This record gives sequence, C-alpha cells and structure tokens, in this order.
Amino acid sequence: MTETNQRDAQLIEDAKATLVKNDLGGYTVPTHGLYPFQWNWDSAIVALGWLPFDEPRAWEEATSLLSAQWKSGMVPHVVFHQHSDTYFPGPDIWGVKNIPDSTSITQPPVLATVIKSLFEECKDRALAEAQINTIVPQLIDSHLWWYKQRDPENTGLVVSYHPWESGMDNSPAWDAALEAVPCVDWEYTRRDTSHIDASERPHKKEYDRFLYLVDFFRKMNFDDTLIYQDCPYRVNDVSIISILHRGTKDLLEVCEKIGVSNEQTAYLEKRLSLTEEAIQKLWCAETNLFHSFDTRSNSLCKARTSAGLLPFFAGLVGEHQTQPLISELDKWLEHSEYAISSTHPEDPNYEPQRYWRGPIWLHINWMIALGLQDYGFAHQAQRITHGSRACIYTSGFNESFHAETGARSGGADFSWTAAMALYWLLPNTSEKD
Ligand code: GLC
Repeated sequence: MTETNQRDAQLIEDAKATLVKNDLGGYTVPTHGLYPFQWNWDSAIVALGWLPFDEPRAWEEATSLLSAQWKSGMVPHVVFHQHSDTYFPGPDIWGVKNIPDSTSITQPPVLATVIKSLFEECKDRALAEAQINTIVPQLIDSHLWWYKQRDPENTGLVVSYHPWESGMDNSPAWDAALEAVPCVDWEYTRRDTSHIDASERPHKKEYDRFLYLVDFFRKMNFDDTLIYQDCPYRVNDVSIISILHRGTKDLLEVCEKIGVSNEQTAYLEKRLSLTEEAIQKLWCAETNLFHSFDTRSNSLCKARTSAGLLPFFAGLVGEHQTQPLISELDKWLEHSEYAISSTHPEDPNYEPQRYWRGPIWLHINWMIALGLQDYGFAHQAQRITHGSRACIYTSGFNESFHAETGARSGGADFSWTAAMALYWLLPNTSEKD
C-alpha cells in the first residue's frame, strides 16, 4: 500500500466510526451537542455516506426524514425525534406539535438527487426496488409543494422565507434582506455559542431576526398562503432553486425508469421549463456570477457566494454565461489551496472563519464539482475535489473548514463531512494523483 492509500484506509474507518457515533437509531445527528436532532439536507447527504458500507441504513436515513413530511408535502428542516436541551430554538418555540415534531420551514431539497444515486448504485436490488416505490410518491409530493406553495404565481423561481431554509444560514447574501425583518423583543439564551466560539457564529442582531421569523410563522398558523403574502423576508435563493431544479430532473429520471408517468410528472416537467427561462433574472453581468434575489426590495442580493456556482449542478448555466463564470471561478480558486470558500475572498463581507461568510463546506463542493463535470470542466472539478480532500487531510471531519488554512471551523466529528469523505473523496484512490 502506498502512503496515500494507507492514510485513506484509516480515514475511511474513522469516517465510518463518525457516522456510527452520530447514529441515534434510524437517523444520524449532524454532530452531538451542537445539533442534536435530524436535519433535512444533512440526512440526505449522510445517506450517501452510509451507502458504501450499510445499504439498509442508507435508505433508513431517507425514510426517517420522510416520516416527518407534512400533509402539505413539505419536508421539514429539523425533525425533533427526541428531547434535547443542548439546542435552541427547540420545539416549544416553533410551536408545530406534529408527530414526529419538527420545525415549520424546510431546507434545500437535495434528497431527490441522493435517492437517484441510491437507486442506481445500491447492490441489493430487491431492497432498492422495494424502497423506491414508497419514496417516489413522497418526493413527488415534496417537489409539487415546492412549486405550488413557494411559487404560487408561476414565476419559475421559488422563494425561501428564512436564511435557515437555505442551509447557508449566515451567508452575507441575506444581510440586506434580513435587515428588513424586525428583531424579537423577548429575551432568550442561545445554545450554539456554548458549543462553538462566538467568533465563528452569527451575531445577536441576526439571531433576533431569525427568531422573529420563527414567531411569525407560528402566528400565521403555518398557512402557506398567508406567509407568502406577508413574510417580511422573501428571497429567490439561487442555491435552493438550483438544487430543486436538479432534484426534479433526477426525480423525473427515476420516475421514467420505474414507469411512473402521470399528471404530476407532466406538471413537474412544465415547471422545469419555467425555471430554465426565469433563471436569467439571477445572472449578474458585473460580477459574472448568479445571485439570489430579494423579492421584497426587488433587487439582487449583492454578496458573491459559492451558491452562485450551483446553477452548474442544475444545468442552468446558459452558453453566454459559461466562460465568464469559469474565469471567475479560476480567479476565486487562486486564493487558497483549499476549495472553495463559501464567500468570494474579494467580497467585502468575506470572513474566512465565520459561518457561511468564508469557510468551506464539502457537500457544496460535491455539488459544484458534479456540475462542472457535467459541463465538461474536468480540470476545475478536479481542483475542487483536491481542495476538498486537502481539508480533511489537514483537520479531519469538521462541519466546515477555515477558507485559508483548512483548519476546523464549526463542530467536529461531523456527519456530512464524513459522508462526503466516504462517498466522494476517499474511494477510487488510484484516480487521485
Ligand atoms: C447549520 C447549517 C445548516 C445545517 C445545520 C446542521 O445550521 O447552516 O446548513 O443543516 O447546521 O448541520
């Protein structure tokens, strides 16, 4: 065995042990303490991590998440399967009272893409066939919900109501839109800063507004129509839009394979065409990047973030945008051997260590690399893969990584990073050098 192979073999064992340690029986917490429940897009990514060594467990990760799906079709952002007092805001603040209990918002719908991979790559075909027939109708409901409730005016661009829905909670992209949200007028005690240094976490002024929105959803009785009309924060998030678009395409491919074709799949097809046209609204010719759009102030969210590269993953980058976007990416990647910072290093709001304002997240990299590969940019895809591997070689399975040093940022022993190592970064050692 070469030295690289030996190191990777050890890391594979460590990554498996990380998932096992975070497994609470049917679902995997992102990390103990800081995030003690089931998170939506974390679980989707984590299912990929279970896939190479425990296929039934991979499917179970998805079905436990879907067990919390609302009647409306929404798959919640956090599922409170069991009590924990190490996290705030808990179920009492959200006020949902479902079984299992959950928050009242959602997260990027990467699950459909993951399910397609599970279905295609699972060796146990009987298991895959059995699972897919239950999961596909649930995914169809979820995607229909996205389009109908989050884009009731058929604009082609769904909206998000909370920075936590983006999963990129503290991205500078949300700063201006969030400023329009009032602050809560009640006292509370945060739990995140008792686990992680405050220099890596959001400020109080952001938390006050995050909580205002949580209160607002409860006061609106979680009614999709009322929230759409009155929510003070309403953003076309380019990452959600891209992930949803790719997910719908992947879901429709699975439907075709298993012979599901009906009014609902035809509706989803139409929605894809709408987004393909509407995405132009999110392109900025000055920054050569896609941006999110604040529908309240009618303006593009200014910050340059890695979300702006996710249209590659969706196949939404047009011919005239490809070269400018790639030149921008090449310059971005010159800043650090670790890839790719969540905020562009030349953006005025870049902070290499603070939550979503600079640090590197490996599942974002995986999606961007896949997209680049699809567009034929193998060199850039490989550069991102190398930059991601450098992060885990430097500091292990952390929540995220300092954009310039690859050091830990956020929590340690993190499930989605271990999953990306197992599924994407560590297998196929021969292809690495
Ligand atoms: C943070 C992240 C979010 C993630 C969650 C659990 O809130 O911003 O994307 O899902 O932690 O890992």
